[in-house]
Amino acid sequence: MAVNVGIIGFGTVGAGTAEVLIRNRDLIKKRIGEEIKIKRIADLDIERDRGVPIDRSILTKDAMEIIEDPDIHIVAELIGGTTTAKELIISAMQKGKHVVTANKALLAEHGKEIYESARRYGVWLGFEASVAGGIPIIGVLKKGLAANKICSVLGILNGTSNYILTRMKKQGLTYKEVVSEAVQLGIAEDPPTLDVDGTDAAHKLAIIVALMVGFPVDYRDIYKEGITEITPDDIRFSDEFGYTIKLLAIARHHENRVEARVHPAMIPKESILANVDEVFNAIYVEGDFVGPNLYYGLGAGRKPTGSAVASDIISLARYIIGGQSHLTSPLGFNCAPDEALRIQPMEELKSRYYFRVSAVDRPGVLSSISGILGKHGISIESVIQKGRRKKENDSVPIVMLTHEAVERDVRRAISEIDKLDVVKDKTVVIRVLTLPRLKPWDSRFNEG
Ligand code: HSE
Repeated sequence: MAVNVGIIGFGTVGAGTAEVLIRNRDLIKKRIGEEIKIKRIADLDIERDRGVPIDRSILTKDAMEIIEDPDIHIVAELIGGTTTAKELIISAMQKGKHVVTANKALLAEHGKEIYESARRYGVWLGFEASVAGGIPIIGVLKKGLAANKICSVLGILNGTSNYILTRMKKQGLTYKEVVSEAVQLGIAEDPPTLDVDGTDAAHKLAIIVALMVGFPVDYRDIYKEGITEITPDDIRFSDEFGYTIKLLAIARHHENRVEARVHPAMIPKESILANVDEVFNAIYVEGDFVGPNLYYGLGAGRKPTGSAVASDIISLARYIIGGQSHLTSPLGFNCAPDEALRIQPMEELKSRYYFRVSAVDRPGVLSSISGILGKHGISIESVIQKGRRKKENDSVPIVMLTHEAVERDVRRAISEIDKLDVVKDKTVVIRVLTLPRLKPWDSRFNEG
């Protein structure tokens, strides 16, 4: 018996999915024992050649032809967006079809409804392609590390931002210069707003956190900050302090709360994550038994994302062929999880910080600034003033690293500092991350 698939959306991801299922058809058949057949593909544009060897008679403009077809077992929703896509997914589930999607925004915004529909209609929902494209992180969290409490995840989840920061660092260019070059090269969208303001990474982190805790998390509860304010000066100063700036998605599972945040972070420049450059994604996961795991690969693109969608289709095909009766729930938790866990408000975060204050170069300025920091309980680890004024009232950067401080205190202190007459511009604040330096014989993972 062939397993029949309907693909809704024949854009980049739909074409990549169809291509891998067709080109690797024999290999996949050898792996699962039966053929996976693409029965129909729906798209509003069925004229354009997508470079995939398909029989054109399977193309339709009407997605309902797929949803209504009783012979189709699996529907792949690959149109994106949160309105029509949601309706199509729920209609397909109502018809008893398993659904595969790459739609991170939909799961981050309406995950609760989608996961509940899957449960209600007794179908499976695959979403491997929704986070980090070709890196099979959903399978890792749901299956590979299923025995572990997932203690923390640190991810470079947005390739566009990583590309921009890499170019700024390697070529000393400004944010604007790199973005216009990246748009011209087709590496970044025009404009790349959702990539550079942290939204895309927050969508992906919401999905990861849901898998860590077992219940849907609204991405709007996740603090996000983008990379648009980072300057070549900040990149150079962090390098002098021994750090590299990356846009990080961070989740940490504490006793009764979860940290979930996306922002530029300074990480030690010799760490592996600091050396994940260009458009690559990487995800560091720490489980309570497995210890540290690191995954690296392409987070976007037709082939890697097509590979991820196809992996869900293959898992489902195995389930259908095997006549299994037990479906894994979308988030991999079959009993009610601990919904009392809360997302920690950002103000409660404890972190080290980098500040770049633009202040007039005059005796006493540093002591006014450090006085305010001291009043708010913020202790300075090191401070450097870069350069000397050229003219009276010119500002110079005063750069500081702090010891661990509380975000609430930092915000209050910075708002006071920015009101000083001698401070000429908004102070730049970047959080500094200390990464665990684990050795294979780390006693936490080898005791007993
Ligand atoms: N636009 C995303 C990125 C890829 O730049 O990583 C799709 O999620």
